[in-house]
Amino acid sequence: MRRCYLYTFFAFLLPTLVESFDFPRNFTPSTYPLAVRSPYLNAWIDGTGANGAVLNHDWPRLWNLTQTMEWCGMAHIDGILWQWLGGPISNSSSTINIPAMRNSTLTPTRTIFELVAGPMLLNISFFNPIETEDLTRQSLPFMYLSLDAQSLDGQEHDVQIYSDISAEWVTGDRVNSTVQWNTTLTSSTIFHRGYLQNPQSMVEVNNQAQDATVYYAMELDQNVSWKTGDANITRPLFQDQGKLDNETDTSFRVVNDQLPVFAFAADLGVLRNTPSSLVWALGVVRDPVVRYAASPDPSTSPWDQRPYFYSDSRFSSQRIEDVIDFFMHDYESAVQRAESLDNRIYQDAASVSGGNEEYFDLVSMGARLALSAFDITYSTSGDGEIDIKAFMKNTGINTNNQSNNALGLYASLPAFMYLNATWMGYLLDSSLQYQNLIFSPNNSMAAYSSLDGHPIVTGGTSSDYSVEDTASMLIVTATYARMSKDTRIISKYYELLQKWTQYLIQGSMPPIQQKTMDHLGVFNDHYTTVALKGIIGIGAMAQISATLGQNNSEYLSTASNLIQNWQIQTVQSEYITMDYSNTSTWALLYDLYADTLLGTNLVDQRVYDTHEQFCQTQLSAYQFGIPESSYSTETKSMWSMFTAATSKNNETRNDLIQAIFRRATNNNSSKRNFPLIYDSQDSSEQPVEGASPQQGGMFALLALEYGFIPRF
Ligand SMILES: *[C@@H]1O[C@H](CO)[C@@H](O)[C@H](O)[C@H]1NC(C)=O
Ligand SMILES: *[C@@H]1O[C@H](CO)[C@@H](O)[C@H](O)[C@H]1NC(C)=O
Ligand SMILES: *[C@@H]1O[C@H](CO)[C@@H](O)[C@H](O)[C@H]1NC(C)=O
Ligand SMILES: *[C@@H]1O[C@H](CO)[C@@H](O)[C@H](O)[C@H]1NC(C)=O
Ligand SMILES: *[C@@H]1O[C@H](CO)[C@@H](O)[C@H](O)[C@H]1NC(C)=O
Ligand SMILES: *[C@@H]1O[C@H](CO)[C@@H](O)[C@H](O)[C@H]1NC(C)=O
Ligand SMILES: *[C@@H]1O[C@H](CO)[C@@H](O)[C@H](O)[C@H]1NC(C)=O
Ligand SMILES: *[C@@H]1O[C@H](CO)[C@@H](O)[C@H](O)[C@H]1NC(C)=O
Ligand SMILES: *[C@@H]1O[C@H](CO)[C@@H](O)[C@H](O)[C@H]1NC(C)=O
Ligand SMILES: *[C@@H]1O[C@H](CO)[C@@H](O)[C@H](O)[C@H]1NC(C)=O
Ligand SMILES: *[C@@H]1O[C@H](CO)[C@@H](O)[C@H](O)[C@H]1NC(C)=O
Ligand SMILES: *[C@@H]1O[C@H](CO)[C@@H](O)[C@H](O)[C@H]1NC(C)=O
Repeated sequence: MRRCYLYTFFAFLLPTLVESFDFPRNFTPSTYPLAVRSPYLNAWIDGTGANGAVLNHDWPRLWNLTQTMEWCGMAHIDGILWQWLGGPISNSSSTINIPAMRNSTLTPTRTIFELVAGPMLLNISFFNPIETEDLTRQSLPFMYLSLDAQSLDGQEHDVQIYSDISAEWVTGDRVNSTVQWNTTLTSSTIFHRGYLQNPQSMVEVNNQAQDATVYYAMELDQNVSWKTGDANITRPLFQDQGKLDNETDTSFRVVNDQLPVFAFAADLGVLRNTPSSLVWALGVVRDPVVRYAASPDPSTSPWDQRPYFYSDSRFSSQRIEDVIDFFMHDYESAVQRAESLDNRIYQDAASVSGGNEEYFDLVSMGARLALSAFDITYSTSGDGEIDIKAFMKNTGINTNNQSNNALGLYASLPAFMYLNATWMGYLLDSSLQYQNLIFSPNNSMAAYSSLDGHPIVTGGTSSDYSVEDTASMLIVTATYARMSKDTRIISKYYELLQKWTQYLIQGSMPPIQQKTMDHLGVFNDHYTTVALKGIIGIGAMAQISATLGQNNSEYLSTASNLIQNWQIQTVQSEYITMDYSNTSTWALLYDLYADTLLGTNLVDQRVYDTHEQFCQTQLSAYQFGIPESSYSTETKSMWSMFTAATSKNNETRNDLIQAIFRRATNNNSSKRNFPLIYDSQDSSEQPVEGASPQQGGMFALLALEYGFIPRF
């Protein structure tokens, strides 16, 4: 807290900087996030284009990088054809020129490419708003694409712009599910809509929903023309004529049959600069969003949760036209809010990292991912009260569709604490209500995943990692209560939290027959890291009890006795063991971050110091980060960042940050979008996971410094 006051003092000196900063960095991750506003609107593009032609190297792909999600951008400039977005175009009638990429910039809200197309600069921005102050706006599953053109030679040029999305955005089943589409005009907007002829509620195929409607919208006040139809006809039409014929293709069909595309063209005429941005909106809307199990009245379970924005009186018509018009009209002010949020995050990131710009880049990627799997929903109770629940799909592993898993909440906690602590409350409420009502009587410990099978969140999985997961839930809940100053969650579930703490008191030290994510699959009786996390979990409960005015002396004394014992057993002169019955093992103690964040102050400074010394000596041997333990060569980006956040020495901190950065920008064949779990030395090995909301852990330094102060 002391440092926070210091910052507040210095903050008076910063405003001029905030105004003038313009993100000068040219950041090249191995894949760029484009659309990331929900688990089903989550597409990335390869960052390794030939000749710097990044945007034209390939089609965007869904988050696991297997399925293409065709999204095309072309331009005529003085009759010469350029392609500014997407992969190879079939049946092309003309020579296609590929612009050179001059810069790419990543901020928490935007991915911006500056492309040189002959005599013009095209500025392409993929903008995924983060609306910390407005839950309705945050819950809209829409993002913006914008284009600004600027003459580089001072002359005027004749410009036509084209963009389409393909029917691949509607379904992951590209061979059997028939897609339909149509085109709608409002007073200010034109939009295409794509949907399945026979949607299947709450079903996914290849990670895409079978019950989604896709919208691609554009403002009407340009010289707009449009077309829906075969990619092989629609794209060549623009190539030939610089405009489209306003025709609808009504032979509805599956994706792999003459790929349907939903296209727009705008004739900008002869100009030096676009007077304002050309803006498109892309959205993937599902309603309802999840099927949730835990009604307080079991006879009504399970029931469906709707997208939160429909509870807002601004959309009382319940018409998507109004939602799309609102989103389109909101563009200019959304850009202003995003610039101020990006600037604030930049300033704060610089302040906590000693001006380390790699840290800002990692936070930018982490912000995208923390919110990319975050669905905000509501239901209405009999008396008309609105009940808000949020769900975080564990994207990142293909075979895993859990929601609100304990580890995911723990790892992403820093992002929520910095951006808006209240949002974590909606996630916790979904998990805790389920475990309290449905998972009983198996709820003596926390579930691994409280809500399996997103979007059907009706099943819990009991945990093999029971001490770790129970401690995660207690630490997240205590941190939430402390930082949001909201005691409703801890009062509502106090008995459940007490029950869990009893489990930790009995099972943390020694941690008999426990498994750990740090050494997958192997039971052991002496895992140092499991014991540490369990003890911090008890410390977290001591804070929860104190907050509610309950007697917490038993929790305090137990935690303090156990940690003394832990320190005696585990601390060696130069490192901390992983298995404390075997002094030749060692561990990365990333959970010290929880002790610091929550201020439980259980662990002696000398343990922090020994651990940090150890990390510093190891870093030279592992280019991508220190392994989780001596059992494995695997490392995880978010645990590296947790460790960086508790480092006192700037060099250790910066070296850990650089290790994560190195892997995130590594352009080899075995890539993932922002890898989470990977080998600490070998970049040719495929990372286990990427595109995970657990990358919210990148905010670890920021949450420590600013988590107690709302920043926005
Ligand atoms: C983009 O790149 C060009 C050429 O390298 C450079 O002159 C310009 O300053 C860069 N712009 C930004 C915003 O970094
Ligand atoms: C490109 O777009 C970004 C974001 O909208 C803006 O900050 C920047 O000034 C633009 N550059 C040009 C050359 O239009
Ligand atoms: C955080 O979000 C809630 C809505 O969930 C909102 O009421 C609150 O004002 C937001 N907090 C800040 C600091 O903007
Ligand atoms: C499409 O249908 C065929 C025959 O019914 C089936 O074998 C195949 O698995 C289906 N493919 C998908 C992606 O559903
Ligand atoms: C488009 O299709 C949807 C879904 O069937 C329908 O509700 C809507 O009225 C249609 N719009 C137009 C303009 O045909
Ligand atoms: C991505 O998802 C597809 C479809 O579900 C699957 O076939 C593929 O194996 C996945 N790829 C990876 C790298 O997980
Ligand atoms: C195509 O449709 C747009 C939007 O309705 C309209 O402004 C334009 O005049 C139409 N063009 C033609 C050639 O009909
Ligand atoms: C290729 O494009 C032309 C228009 O340029 C169109 O007439 C033709 O049908 C297309 N061919 C195929 C195979 O789709
Ligand atoms: C488009 O046309 C090319 C030949 O020009 C063909 O190879 C391809 O299969 C066609 N694509 C579709 C989706 O019909
Ligand atoms: C519409 O297109 C015409 C013809 O290319 C052009 O002269 C005019 O400036 C355009 N109008 C707008 C508003 O872009
Ligand atoms: C170390 O980092 C802090 C920010 O956490 C910064 O204020 C300080 O100036 C840095 N010290 C040195 C020696 O670079
Ligand atoms: C997702 O969850 C559903 C419902 O629990 C399950 O049937 C399905 O197999 C899961 N899919 C994957 C890819 O894990």
